[in-house]
This record gives sequence, C-alpha cells and structure tokens, in this order.
Amino acid sequence: MLGGGGQVARAIMATVPSQHVAIAKSRGEVDISDPAAVAGTVAHASIDWIVNGAAFTAVDLAEDEVESATLINDTAVGVLASAAFEAGCRLVHLSTDFVFDGKSGRAYLPTDVTNPISVYGKTKLGGERHVVAGGDGIVLRTSWVYASAGRNFVLTMLRLMREREKLNVVADQIGTPTWATGIAHAIWGLIDVNAPGGLYHWTDLGVASWYDFALAIQEEALARGLLARAVPITPIATVDYPTKAARPRFSVLDTRAMRALVPAPAQHWRQNLRKMLDELRTK
Ligand SMILES: NC(=O)c1ccc[n+]([C@@H]2O[C@H](COP(=O)([O-])OP(=O)(O)OC[C@H]3O[C@@H](n4cnc5c(N)ncnc54)[C@H](OP(=O)(O)O)[C@@H]3O)[C@@H](O)[C@H]2O)c1
Repeated sequence: MLGGGGQVARAIMATVPSQHVAIAKSRGEVDISDPAAVAGTVAHASIDWIVNGAAFTAVDLAEDEVESATLINDTAVGVLASAAFEAGCRLVHLSTDFVFDGKSGRAYLPTDVTNPISVYGKTKLGGERHVVAGGDGIVLRTSWVYASAGRNFVLTMLRLMREREKLNVVADQIGTPTWATGIAHAIWGLIDVNAPGGLYHWTDLGVASWYDFALAIQEEALARGLLARAVPITPIATVDYPTKAARPRFSVLDTRAMRALVPAPAQHWRQNLRKMLDELRTK
C-alpha cells in the first residue's frame, strides 16, 4: 500500500482480510516521485498486488503547483506502473471523478470520454493512462472521499458547524459522498476476484449536492451528540463560492459493472456516513 498515511490507505490497512498480509508505506518511507525508491520497493519484495493511494489531492493548490501535481499524479505513476508490470505484480491505482467535465446528463460509465477541467483532474488522467497503457493494471475511480481522520468535507463541516453561527454550502455540484472504508472493501473485492485490468468505478450509492451532504452531516452529528447545536445552512451557487480550480457540476459515477463483479456490498452514502460518525464518536 503506497501513500500509507492517506484516508483510503488507512482504511485498507484497517480491513485486511485474514487470507492476506498487507504492508503500508507512508510518504516518508517511499516517496513515489523517487523512481529508485519505487523500483526498489517493487523489485525487492515478494508482492502480488500494489495499491497506490499516494496522490497530490489538494485540488486548488494543484492549480499553482502544476509541476508537483504532475510529478506525483502522472509521472510517478508511470514509473510505478512500469516497475509493477516488470516485477509481475498487479497494480490498483486510485483515481477520481474529476477526470470528467461534469456536463453529462447521466452517471459516468468507465468507458465515457474524459475531459478534466482542473490541473488535478488532468494530472490524475495522465496517471490513469500509464496504468491502463499496458499490462493488467487497474484504475479505480471514486469520488468525494471521507474518513474519520484526514482532510475531508465531513470533518471540515463538523469544525465549521462548531465554530460558526451559519454556513453557506454549494448546492449545484452533484456527486456521491464515499466512505473510505467502503472503498477499502471494494479494493479487497477486486483483489479477491483477481479482476482483469482496466477502468473501474466505485462509490457509495445515491447522489447528493454538497449542500445535501452538509445537511445530513449536521443531522446525523446532532443525533450522536457530536454537535451541541444546529446552525442554519444556506444553499448557494458555485459562482458565489469561487475556488481556484473548476469542479465538475455533475460527477456521479456509474458503478454497476464493478458492483456486479466484486463481493463487497455497496451502501447508500447516508448509511456509510452514519457508520463513520459512529466510529468518530468512539474516538
Ligand atoms: N479525497 C477525495 O475526495 C478523493 C476523491 C476521488 C478520488 N480520490 C483519489 O483517491 C486516492 C486516495 O485519496 P485520499 O483521500 O486517501 O487522499 P489523501 O488522504 O490526501 O492521501 C494521499 C496520501 O498520499 C501521500 N502522498 C502525497 N505525495 C506523495 C508522494 N510523493 N509519495 C508518497 N506518498 C505521497 C500523502 O502524504 P502527505 O499527506 O504527507 O502529503 C497522503 O498520505 C487518490 O488517488 C485520490 O486522487 C480522492
């Protein structure tokens, strides 16, 4: 597991099935932008599968740090994919709904045309291309990831709901919130069925705007005593919340093919939000 400190990586390490042994390497142990470190890790251990959760995920910062984002999300993934193919080990590489432009009128299929509208999306698409270019690499796209630790929308909302008297949240971007633990089970599912190489989509079920998601976070957190009081939340338009990077208006991923393939049960995003908040309450 590369990018061991990340949300998905930690979820994978917390859900290792009994028939597998997994090792996580954090950025300090293996920097994926260091070709020698990557080659050494892949070649000198008897590894069947590598899961790459390392990424430059700061979407707005990527607009200013194009070189770093390209190095980590694109170039380094090329080096990793080649090393994995040469060593004969399978690669699962995580990618994003942000490879799409958000203009679709239906959920995106893995085969749909990509057209990223941000540096982050473009660099992630570059990474995807290395993984599917040859060999049997797997690209797993997901969306709106959160966990009980890390940098994510749920933890940011909970903090703002404690700090502020009211909140404005964007209501015209539609996607699917996805719990990192659900993704982890799905990845173990891909490994267990020895899934063929190619593009896959996995998110929780259902759709939401950021506004819907924020309302649900507040309701569920209040019900669990994680918040002491409700604050008014107002839906706003994207134009009223300018960000450095453009984001797709609609980035729901069609996950039917992967759900038919892997044994992991998909859950509605709100059910998984409840599980994550239950976990947070016990921390
Ligand atoms: N978060 C989302 O909403 C979202 C949505 C769709 C897809 N994805 C994709 O899902 C994957 C996992 O996302 P996540 O939410 O788990 O991300 P995350 O929590 O931001 O974790 C990414 C990890 O990668 C590490 N990293 C960065 N540069 C590295 C390098 N050069 N070498 C090794 N590690 C490095 C980071 O370390 P530092 O913290 O030390 O920098 C961090 O631990 C990524 O591929 C991401 O693009 C995420």
